[in-house]
This record gives sequence, C-alpha cells and structure tokens, in this order.
Amino acid sequence: MSPRLAHRVADFGTTIFSEMTALAARHNAINLGQGYPDFDGPESVKATAIAAITAGQNQYAAGIGQLDLRTAVAEHARRFYGQDVDPVSMVTITCGATEAIFSAIQGLVDPGDEVILIEPFYDCYVPAVHMAGGVPRYVPLHPPQPGETGWRLDLDELNAAFNARTRVILVNTPHNPSGKVFTADELKAIAILCVAWDVIAITDEVYEHLVYGSARHVRLATQPGMSDRTITIGSLGKSFSFTGWKVGWAIADPALTPAVRRTHQYITFATPIPLQTAAAVALTHCDAVVQALADDFERKRDYLTDVLTELGFKPTVPDGGYFVVTDVADVAQRSGVDLEGAAFCRWLTTEIGVAAIPLSAFYSPGREAITRGRIRFAFCKQQVTLERAAERLQRLIA
Ligand SMILES: Cc1ncc(COP(=O)(O)O)c(C=O)c1O
Repeated sequence: MSPRLAHRVADFGTTIFSEMTALAARHNAINLGQGYPDFDGPESVKATAIAAITAGQNQYAAGIGQLDLRTAVAEHARRFYGQDVDPVSMVTITCGATEAIFSAIQGLVDPGDEVILIEPFYDCYVPAVHMAGGVPRYVPLHPPQPGETGWRLDLDELNAAFNARTRVILVNTPHNPSGKVFTADELKAIAILCVAWDVIAITDEVYEHLVYGSARHVRLATQPGMSDRTITIGSLGKSFSFTGWKVGWAIADPALTPAVRRTHQYITFATPIPLQTAAAVALTHCDAVVQALADDFERKRDYLTDVLTELGFKPTVPDGGYFVVTDVADVAQRSGVDLEGAAFCRWLTTEIGVAAIPLSAFYSPGREAITRGRIRFAFCKQQVTLERAAERLQRLIA
C-alpha cells in the first residue's frame, strides 16, 4: 500500500544515509558512510549531563535556551572570532544545527522566494526550502581538475544566481561533503552580493573547529556588511563528538533573531535541559580537547587518503570536516562494477564490507555527470576501525 502523505513531502523518500547504515548493519560492514564518531566526547562533559539529571534538571528548558549555554555560545564567538554577541537577544539554542537551519528557513522564506544553495549540499537543506514553499537555486562547486587541489566556487556563476527574488543564501563552511573551507576572499565576494541584493545569509558552521593544515575557518558574519544579515549556525555534535545529543544554536542580530525564535517555539519549543548544561561546560572549558580532536582527525584524514590512493582511488584531500570524496572510476572498472555511485556503494558494502555514501545524495536530480563514479567516506572513527576498513579494502586488489 502506498503511504498516505501530504504533497509537500511525497517526493522526500528515505535518505540514502539510513539505507546505507541499515545495509552496513545487515552485512556486518564497517560503516564509513554516515558521519558520526564511533567514540564518545569528553568524560567530564558526559559526567556533567548525568549530574544535571540526578540534580533534577528534568523539566522544560527555557524555550530560547538556558542562559548559561547562550552565554557560553556568545563567549565562544568572542574568543574565536572577535564577535560581539549578546546572549540575551542574539543566541537561540535548538535541537541540533538541523533544527536551527529548518527554523531559520521557515522564519525567512515566503512561497516563491529563491534560496541559493551551493551544490553539493547537506541533505536537509532542500526539504527545508520546499517545506517553506521556497525555490532552491543551485550554484555548483566544481570538483578539482588535474593540477587543482580542491573544489572551486565560480564567482561568475554565483553572481548570476542572485536576483530580485533571492531571499537567502545558505553557506556551509567547512563544507560537507567536499571538505572545502571557504577562503576569506570567497566569503567577501558572497558578502558583497548579499549586501547588493539585500539577501540574508544562513551559515552552517558545524565543522568550524575541524580544519587542517594551513586552512583557517572564517565566519561570513564577520565580513563587512554581514553582522546584521547573517544567521550563524553551530552544533555541539561535531566539535565534541556528541552527535546524538542534537544540541545546536543560532547566532543572529537582535533584529534577525525573531526569524529563528518564532518558528523554533512551535517546532521543538526547547532543547533537553541536562544536555544544555553539559554543552555550556564543553564550550567553556574544552578548547584544548577540541584542538586535540582536530589534530587527531587530521592524522586520520591522511591515513585514509593514503590507503585509498594506494588502492587506486583518486581522493581529494579535504581541508576541513571529516569526509573524503573520492573518484572510484579506476577501481570500479578494474572490479567490473557499475560506476553509478549508489550501485557502487551497495557493492562495496555487501561484497567488500565497507559502507560509503554516493555523492548523488548531496545533489539535485540530473547531476549524474558529476556524481557518477564519486563517493564519500567518513574518517571520524577510531584508528582501529579505519585499519579494519583498510584491511577489507585490500580485497579490491586481491
Ligand atoms: C553540514 C552539516 N550540517 C548540519 C549537520 C547536522 O548537525 P546536527 O546534528 O547538529 O543537527 C550535519 C551532520 O552531519 C552536517 O554535516
């Protein structure tokens, strides 16, 4: 029987992330698909959450978030980016970055408004735009050509996407899945267009602390003209390895904050209170732990890209985040396997025992020319997990 669904959601389907995770579990495959660590964040932060529950923090939190966590988010923004953030009028705590993105889009976009999305994109952006009645307008990132090291934004293409109907641009840096960290010059160019067309920027910065080598994370909100037209979104999940807690936040000018708060109050109303208490401790006291995590991920990035290169994949070394996108054409041809990403990932999961995500999961339909033969691996795993995955991948040349 076909499911009974509203037209608005009838096309959504089940995400490939769930499909691959279920397939990995059924075939006992090592899951380098979905982006979550197979280890926990700091013990002291876990202990704070447990103590908060024991001490009776078990009823509704303040709808906009507990003041201690809002203050911690504001101080973190000052410490890392020199931003002047008022925790009372500028910070809202949400159930993960996902809810902050959804709330912000529902609060800003009217039916028919255009939202610029840089493609590939994280999978929740398009449904959020559709649910608001908005129209996604895609601007591509171009995969590296021979001689280039990273994915490239074409500023002429970006320029051409702005028009009088543009309401919002969503910028994700460091970027999932490509690992691109947008440069200050690129962000300046985006800022100039936002100011010229009176457009609001929503930035998804969940990987803000996971940057490698000489790459530096820059906040679009700190670029000229952007402090009062940017909603900056962050999350505890990625920096502190607590993805299951779903604690996120949005920082915005006092005049822009109602766009998040009015919708948030009727979507989830509040975020679990003991996790907010623990998140405040994490954001205030764990800078060194986060740096150590980023250093560790950089080593794992290098390990996984080396392993893939030795096996005949052509990975792009990411500057940020915890994913590697790789070209699989040579490996697929050698193994006589379909090059189409989803088919290749199913084969890799069931026959080789390692799960990955096809790049098509991050694109609108009809982009096979780019997605064919490209998949994404996650390296946010224990070293022993990556080594077990590497052992299994050796079967590709056995
Ligand atoms: C770019 C990006 N944004 C948002 C999220 C989700 O963040 P949260 O778990 O805080 O909702 C993810 C998770 O993978 C992500 O990769």
